[in-house]
Amino acid sequence: MRNQLGVVVGYEKSRSAEEALRWGAAEAVARKVPLTVCRAWEWPYHEWPGELVPLELERRPAQRLLKDAAAWVGRHYPKVPLNTLTDRGLPSVILTDLSRDAELIVVGTRGYGALAGLVAGSVSAHVAAHASCPVIVMRGDPDERDAHEVVAGFDGSPQSLAALGFAAMETQRLAAPLKVLIAYRERGGEAGMQEPRIEAQALAWNELVSWQRRYPELQVDVELVDEPARPALLEAAQKARLLVVGARGLGEVRGLLLGSVSQAVLHHAPCTVAVVHASRTMASLSRPDWDDRPCLPPVAASPDRTDGLR
Ligand SMILES: Nc1ncnc2c1ncn2[C@@H]1O[C@H](COP(=O)(O)OP(=O)(O)O)[C@@H](O)[C@H]1O
Ligand SMILES: [Mg+2]
Repeated sequence: MRNQLGVVVGYEKSRSAEEALRWGAAEAVARKVPLTVCRAWEWPYHEWPGELVPLELERRPAQRLLKDAAAWVGRHYPKVPLNTLTDRGLPSVILTDLSRDAELIVVGTRGYGALAGLVAGSVSAHVAAHASCPVIVMRGDPDERDAHEVVAGFDGSPQSLAALGFAAMETQRLAAPLKVLIAYRERGGEAGMQEPRIEAQALAWNELVSWQRRYPELQVDVELVDEPARPALLEAAQKARLLVVGARGLGEVRGLLLGSVSQAVLHHAPCTVAVVHASRTMASLSRPDWDDRPCLPPVAASPDRTDGLR
């Protein structure tokens, strides 16, 4: 069955994985889908035949960790159908495989302390590039930031249209306003090159009208800025709770799974980033059972922060 895993959270023992679990659980509730918490583990040494004991040394802590995660979900979101899954292998590969049956993947970034969150970890970067569904990468510390908006980067590409739809949905869950940003300097915004940005703006509004019909309370602003996309989005992200971009844009370099702007925000944004792949997302945005579901209700912010999951 498609999307049977619902929201998949890549979970390990780190602060940002805990953030991912909080975010993922709230998403699963709002989307009315199951939550799947996955812990992949690797045996770092050469394996001898029949060496079951050492393997158990890795497997058991993974299972314990999932048990703790399940207990936390049970306490805070007792109604959400929960799967826990532990598997041996590279986390990036396992999560990418799971994404085929997922509606959304949520992963943390590596890093603690003063430099935490500056650079995306290799797992999150790999999953964001290869997943078959949208990917949310937790970045920044939501408790330390007074940021509310959802910002979507829009360049008129099909991928950015999908990003816009995803962002509109997220604004409902987060009860947040949406800012759609069109940075036109890179796109030939010098004097005499007015067309592309006007076109992109019209395209954005055209798409937003249908989202506004679905979510009448959607508060949205489309902002044109005479700046290149990367600095413009990173600047706007200062005030954002979530920054949504398409995996690719209008760039013509073939074969890349992520464009330069999406890569840059994954590595440097001060807030959580969602990467949306058009071809892999549109199906879930417009699937037939959509209209049967009630609109996503705004849910309360994630449960009170504590040190570690409790
Ligand atoms: N000029 C722009 N203004 C706003 N957002 C942009 C702009 N360019 C790119 N983006 C955002 O970044 C995403 C990825 O685009 P990009 O990294 O530029 O890929 P490509 O290299 O294929 O053009 C787009 O889908 C869009 O969400
Ligand atoms: Mg581009």
